[in-house]
Amino acid sequence: VVADAAWAEEVRSLARQRDAVLLAHNYQLPEIQEIADHTGDSLALSRIAASSDASTIVFCGVHFMAETAKILSPEKTVLIPDARAGCSLADSITGEQLREWKSRHPGAVVVSYVNTTAEVKAETDICCTSSNAVDVVASIPADKEILFCPDQFLGAHVKRVTGRENLHVWAGECHVHAGINGPELAERAAADPEADLFIHPECGCATSALYLAGEGAVASERVKILSTGDMLTAARDTKARSVLVATEVGMLHQLRKAAPEIDFRAVNDRASCRYMKMITPAALLRALRDGVDEVHVDPEIAARARASVRRMVEIGT
Ligand code: 13P
Ligand code: SF4
Repeated sequence: VVADAAWAEEVRSLARQRDAVLLAHNYQLPEIQEIADHTGDSLALSRIAASSDASTIVFCGVHFMAETAKILSPEKTVLIPDARAGCSLADSITGEQLREWKSRHPGAVVVSYVNTTAEVKAETDICCTSSNAVDVVASIPADKEILFCPDQFLGAHVKRVTGRENLHVWAGECHVHAGINGPELAERAAADPEADLFIHPECGCATSALYLAGEGAVASERVKILSTGDMLTAARDTKARSVLVATEVGMLHQLRKAAPEIDFRAVNDRASCRYMKMITPAALLRALRDGVDEVHVDPEIAARARASVRRMVEIGT
């Protein structure tokens, strides 16, 4: 299947017939981002999914994102073009592991990244995304212990920004972001001393970037730790002529559209999420033609998860 004009026409027409809204995460293939009604980061897409009037949501992203949309809107039909599109970060903690962790910290508030299964969300007090994690943690009274899962790098970032000593971090990671490493970033930053560094907080190199800034090797105003949505805002605001981007490479498409005059370069051009790329033009067409793969969440788990997801959608920008 080629993503040509005939494909685009068929996708649009089938979406109308199904009363479907097409949502695409910023890491999707460019042709999927272009056909979608809305592109965005995890938080923006969750909000759009919750407020949309469409009776069907086609989520071009990974499974936990579609599951989150279903938790927020159980009456809607939620489709993901390929249900095998998982997430290594979401796989790094199970509901059982979280229950065991909680049993060792009675009274602690559980903050889980949206990159988790519905079962983990059901054990969570407040979910967050990378764009509101700091606001979510700041909303919790200072004397409360916090269990933050599953991403260790986002957890370290939140701990650094909020100065919370009573925040415990789970040791999970995303294989794509963990693979964007400090030495590689340092080398690129040294070779391009005028470039801004846009770094997703899931990256292993976020700590290294701040260390480089602390050592004076990189000007601290060049280092920006941002969610994918916030990268787009920063791209429109920066005066830099070139930007080194530390996140999944799909992000470059929206960045180049937002600021065509800036030279955006990936810190690691092999940082491609194979799960995100399972949503191909053929898979999207199949989803709309056949109404597959439909996302179901056990109603009892969804009911328990809904409160934590609603709080996420309400907090922060
Ligand atoms: P955001 O788009 O919320 O920054 O999330 C990044 C991510 O890794 C999603 O899988
Ligand atoms: Fe999960 Fe990482 Fe892929 Fe995002 S990039 S969906 S965190 S595996």
